[in-house]
Formats: sequence, C-alpha cells, structure tokens
Amino acid sequence: MTETKTKTPVPGWYGSIPSDSQPEDPYSGYRELRETQPVNLTPEGQWRLSRYEDVRSVLRSHGAGMRQTNGMLPGQTVEEPGRGQFMLLQDPPTHTRLRKLVSKAFTPRAIEGWRPRIQAVTDDLLDRVADRGEMDLVADLARPVPATLICEMLGIPPEDQETFTNWTADATHGLLTVRGIGDDALRARVDSAASNLIGYFQNLIDARRKNLGDDLLSVLITAEEEGDRLDPLELLSNSVGLLIAGFETTIGLIGNGLTTLIKHPEELARLREHPEWIVSAVEECLRYSGPILASVRVLHEPHTFGGYEIPKDSEVIAMLAAGNRDPEVFDDPERFDVSRYARELSVPDHLSFGGGAHLCLGAHLARLESQIAIGTLVQRFDDLELVNDETEWGLSLFRVPGRIPIRFRANKPASSAA
Ligand code: HEM
Repeated sequence: MTETKTKTPVPGWYGSIPSDSQPEDPYSGYRELRETQPVNLTPEGQWRLSRYEDVRSVLRSHGAGMRQTNGMLPGQTVEEPGRGQFMLLQDPPTHTRLRKLVSKAFTPRAIEGWRPRIQAVTDDLLDRVADRGEMDLVADLARPVPATLICEMLGIPPEDQETFTNWTADATHGLLTVRGIGDDALRARVDSAASNLIGYFQNLIDARRKNLGDDLLSVLITAEEEGDRLDPLELLSNSVGLLIAGFETTIGLIGNGLTTLIKHPEELARLREHPEWIVSAVEECLRYSGPILASVRVLHEPHTFGGYEIPKDSEVIAMLAAGNRDPEVFDDPERFDVSRYARELSVPDHLSFGGGAHLCLGAHLARLESQIAIGTLVQRFDDLELVNDETEWGLSLFRVPGRIPIRFRANKPASSAA
C-alpha cells in the first residue's frame, strides 16, 4: 500500500511581502514566490497560491467559497444584518440566485448596446483636451468614462452625477478600512459617503418603482426568475456593490493599460498599425498589468496543492497576477505583447477577472469601455509621453493609479477617430 505523505509548510513571505504601499513592480516578488514556494503559508496564517493551474483550480472549486463552513465571512465574529448581501460575499444557494437575477441587467447584448454612447463620451473627453497637448489620463479619461457610463446606466440625472461619483470614490475606500488600512478621517469619509449613497439609492429605487424605465435599476427591480425577485435589502446592496466593483477597477485597467503601452513604444506602434488588435491588447493589459492582483476563497473541505494539505476553513489567496505570468502556461510571460490574444494559436485566458461561479459579472462592460477609451486615444494622439517615470498610485486596495500626467500631439478630430 502506498502512503501519500503531505509536506509540512515553513511559513514565510518568500520574496513577496504585501505592504500598504503600492510598489512599482510587485511582479518580481511574485516570480520569486512562484519559483520558491508556489503553495505558501504566510506568517499571518493565510495560504497563497501563485501558479496558474492552482489559482484557476481554487477559483473554480466547488469545495471552496467566500464564507467559512459556519456561514461567517473570514474575520467576522457576529452576523451583521444588512452587511454582506453583495453577491461576491455569498455562497450557494444565495449566490446562485442573486447572480441569476442581477445577470439579467448585464447580458453581453445589453452591454453592447452602450457601444455608441461609450464612443461618444470618449470622443467628447478627448476633444476637451486635444488642443492642450497635455492631460491627466486618470482625471480626463480613465475616471470619467466608467463614471459617466454607470451613472447613465442607472439613470442618475446629469446634475447629480459629480456628487454621486465622488460618493462612489469615497465609499470604495471602504474596502481599505475593512482591511484595517486608513485613519479615523478616512473611516469617517467612507461612512458618510456610504450613507449618502444608500440614501440616494433608496430614493432612486422608490422613484423607479413608481415609474419603471429601461435603465439598469429598473431591470434589477423587475428581474424575476421562477417567481423570485431581489428583496429590498438585496436590491440596495447589489446596486451599491455593482457600483463599487466597477469603479476603481475600470480606472485601473484604462490607466495601467495606457501607462504600459506608453512604456512599450514598439507595442504601441504595432497597435497603431493594427487597430483591430485592440481586443487582444486590452486582454494583454489585463494579463500584464491588471488592477486586481488577487482574489480570496475559503476552503469548505481540505485541499491538496503541490503536496501541501490546506485544511478546511483556511483562507486562500489566489494570486491572479502571479498566475498571469506563469511560464508553464504563457509563452515569454514577462513580455508585453499586444497581439498575444490575436494570434491563431489559442492562448489561455488570463485570471484577472477571477473565475468559477464568481467570475467578474462586469467583464463585458469593463472590456468594452477600455477597448474604446484606450483604442481611441492611441489612434488620435501621437508622441505620447509620461511626465513622470514612476506611477502616482491612488488610495486603493487595488493597483489603481491616482494621476497620470502625459504630453501628446493630437492628430485627428473626433469625427474621424477610431
Ligand atoms: C477592469 C475592470 C474589472 C476587473 C479587473 C474586475 C475584476 C473582478 C474580480 C477579480 C472579481 C472576483 C472574481 C473571483 O473572485 O472569482 C470580480 C467580481 C465582480 N465584479 Fe468585477 N472587475 C472589473 C470591472 C467590473 C465592472 C465594470 C463591474 C460592474 C459594473 C463589475 C462587477 C463585478 C461583480 C458584480 C462581481 C461579483 C461576481 C460574483 O460574485 O458572482 N466588475 N471582478
């Protein structure tokens, strides 16, 4: 009889120490971790997986979810009613029913219908800066594109959009405070923004119930599956959750993507030669410099990865960005190649939208906005130049730039842009 022995982990950081600051290059640390300790028990007691196959496997596993087997979220000691109704914090069967209902508002067809509007918003934003020869990629493009779109999708009147977007930005920082980052002033700003947002949504939902339209909120209010609907608290949590899930992330994809392109002038030139590669280029930006570096799962049963048995109820960090550069899966993974996903041979999907039951629900929207924003800017503006060598990171749990000043020379008016 053969006995399978499991290895005993030696806790450590193995070259990749998480810190509150945003390092310019977390990837070399991830590489060291993946090469020396791909199944890693950290000194803080969480497990980290950094190989592509392990990351994909835990994300897709039916034996892992978001909550512990006692139904609590990691770190939670008492059930707090009202918190945690967002689908990303749920396991089946609650997750399955919430996701089915909310998905009705996020079909690829519904999102594709927004293409002309995304293009018009992008053209308008670029028109405003074209004569200046300089802009901040975040304030002038990466933030207003997703912010305007989500406001319009929800039917927020134009006069409220700026306040609403500022509340969203502040409330999103709540993700930091949950992780114990930030001072009392930040916590106060987050609480005030969150309660403003909830109050605003409550009024908006009440108004929509009396006068349904074809906006996102009306679709969520009426979404029905076999007689089932979202209850008022679920409707509120998932509307606010969608807003927060899609805000900084899309800013990060557009901002990091453009920064990466400017830092790789040959790839930028290849993309200009082949505008049809924009779909591939955005996938490569997600793989190479995506805004979310990791996602989390809790094991509902013991799992063995690379000979280490990880016990039930362990928190496992699926290191998306480390898996995205795994040489076992990607050819020349450290190379940024805008045509990687345009070649005929099938390239594995990147992990930047997570995977399994929780695969990002907003992926179609994020892709479309980024393809249009990045594709239009690189076709309209030449001689792109970063003013600063180092990125000024924003206040975020994710890899999201705060400001990216650039210089450029405009070459085309809006009407002839891509
Ligand atoms: C570049 C932009 C984005 C990135 C990189 C991103 C990434 C992610 C990731 C990594 C997850 C967790 C998946 C997992 O753990 O398996 C997720 C979940 C989610 N995202 Fe996104 N996201 C983006 C944009 C958006 C947008 C625009 C929306 C909607 C407006 C959105 C809505 C959601 C929702 C609702 C979930 C939870 C899905 C579930 O639990 O079933 N995301 N996203």
